Amino acid sequence: MQAATQIIHAGRDPKTQGWMVNPPIYQSSTIAFPTLEDLLYAERGYSHNDLVEPYELKYGRYGTQTNFALEKAVATIENGYNSFVTSSGAAAVNTALMAFLKTGDHLLLVDSTYSPTRSFADKFLKKLGIETTYYDPSIGKDIEKLIKKNTKVIFMESPGSLSFEVQDVASICKVAKKQGIITILDNSWASGIYFKPLDHGVDVSVMALTKYINGHSDMMMGAITIQKKHFHEIYESFRYMAVNAAPFSSYMVQRGMRTAKVRMDHCFKSAVDLASWLEKRPEVSKVLYPALKSDKNHKMWKQYFTGAAGLFTVVLDKKYPKNVLARMLDKLHLYTMGYSWGGYESLILPVDATSVRTATKWPYSDKTCLRISVGLEDVGDLKADLEEGFKRLKKK
Ligand SMILES: Cc1ncc(COP(=O)(O)O)c(C=O)c1O
Repeated sequence: MQAATQIIHAGRDPKTQGWMVNPPIYQSSTIAFPTLEDLLYAERGYSHNDLVEPYELKYGRYGTQTNFALEKAVATIENGYNSFVTSSGAAAVNTALMAFLKTGDHLLLVDSTYSPTRSFADKFLKKLGIETTYYDPSIGKDIEKLIKKNTKVIFMESPGSLSFEVQDVASICKVAKKQGIITILDNSWASGIYFKPLDHGVDVSVMALTKYINGHSDMMMGAITIQKKHFHEIYESFRYMAVNAAPFSSYMVQRGMRTAKVRMDHCFKSAVDLASWLEKRPEVSKVLYPALKSDKNHKMWKQYFTGAAGLFTVVLDKKYPKNVLARMLDKLHLYTMGYSWGGYESLILPVDATSVRTATKWPYSDKTCLRISVGLEDVGDLKADLEEGFKRLKKK
């Protein structure tokens, strides 16, 4: 089945949703069991840790059928055994890390990771006695040199969502497998549509469903998708961290998900067009976007991805320092400034990775960088709005 077809039908099951096109919102804290046998069945998985059927009703905190339908859908898209949907993307990242790490363990974390993931490691995991080493996103099989006796997890994010380095995922996973190390990958950028981490040997894929899967800038949610062998570790962490998503959010995210492939294909096409136009502009020094032939990650991107998200970074010419940026940004009509991405509307955000790099040096510290999330507007209009912005930038 092609991806466009799969995303329409994934997770829809007449057994749980009846004749409704969309799964209803099963909103409940209490599950009322009709018989003692039913009650004991629900109890079984939790207390004896021998769960065979991942989808079961017990209590609202573990999800209802609305959550389970989304979990099935995400697992299908990501080619996983099962997914767990969480209250945010960050909850998915942190829950996955907590599933495998304990005091005395060592984590290898990619230097280009989303900065709250970095803070979680530097502050929270450190407090628990878990040590983190950051590694260069281009490391590939040389990750082996950083492995210690107590290394438990290698965390990847491909590409990084500020700097867009693509990782050699298969080479890293090969080394990790040989040494019995768990691999986790933040797949938010490709959103399970353009990249399938589990097919390349990754143990656990995490995503912010907040981005393209929901796609309407109105819901927070995440997903953890796993190979069968990691079901119990993640299941336990998910329950103890108590990070479940609300049934209403699960409903809304499924509604958004049905159009995610169409939206992403549109954003991909527009982003390539806009980024190619931008890299030729005199105001622009460089565009960081692996879908561009000129990008140093292009070959690696082609090896792993079937498309690209509409999210990239533009490095401006030195002539335009941060203190003149308001001239350009404050009067844009179509782009608003916001910390998210992957919605139907275009966004623009000044970014600087200088302070969130330790293994590698951010080469653009002396320049102004803008991250653009390309939305569903007409690309000609998006260019025109930036063109006017560049004119204002140059005007003294
Ligand atoms: C790459 C990446 N991972 C994870 C997250 C966290 O997702 P959420 O905001 O839903 O917690 C984000 C959010 O911006 C992100 O960009």
